[in-house]
Amino acid sequence: MAFIKWQDEFLVGIPKVDEQHRKLLETINDLHLLLHTRVSPEKLKDIVFFLNEYVVEHFGTEEALMKASTALPEKLRERHFREHRFFVDKIQEFTGTLETESANKKGYLLDIFEFLGHWFADHILKIDKETAAYLRQDRELRNKNEEESLPHGNG
Ligand SMILES: [Fe+2]
Repeated sequence: MAFIKWQDEFLVGIPKVDEQHRKLLETINDLHLLLHTRVSPEKLKDIVFFLNEYVVEHFGTEEALMKASTALPEKLRERHFREHRFFVDKIQEFTGTLETESANKKGYLLDIFEFLGHWFADHILKIDKETAAYLRQDRELRNKNEEESLPHGNG
């Protein structure tokens, strides 16, 4: 897999989520660069540390929106949460093998790189987009309700 440039077609239309996705893509590209250089154990730790923070923050954002959603079908929500749990488990696995794997840094990095690349294509560009379409409906509905509850008169 090659370096991936951010494109508008990656957008799901929810600015906070898009910003987080963009950050993940930066990390994927960082990993791509690292595969061609000498990697320090500190750098590896930084990446794994980032991924641990990322799952808490980013899945926190998406899951809060999904829980609050009235438009999102229950089945889709369940499937989405399941995919997140799979990702969290995998990051925990990478974290657990961080110390032992540092003897073979390139293989370890490549595993993370490929995992994140697949995640980007198979989760973000699929179920995240599918879900965001419903979350945007929630937002539109909310905006409409707010507009209606505003006092009329001043033009
Ligand atoms: Fe997601």
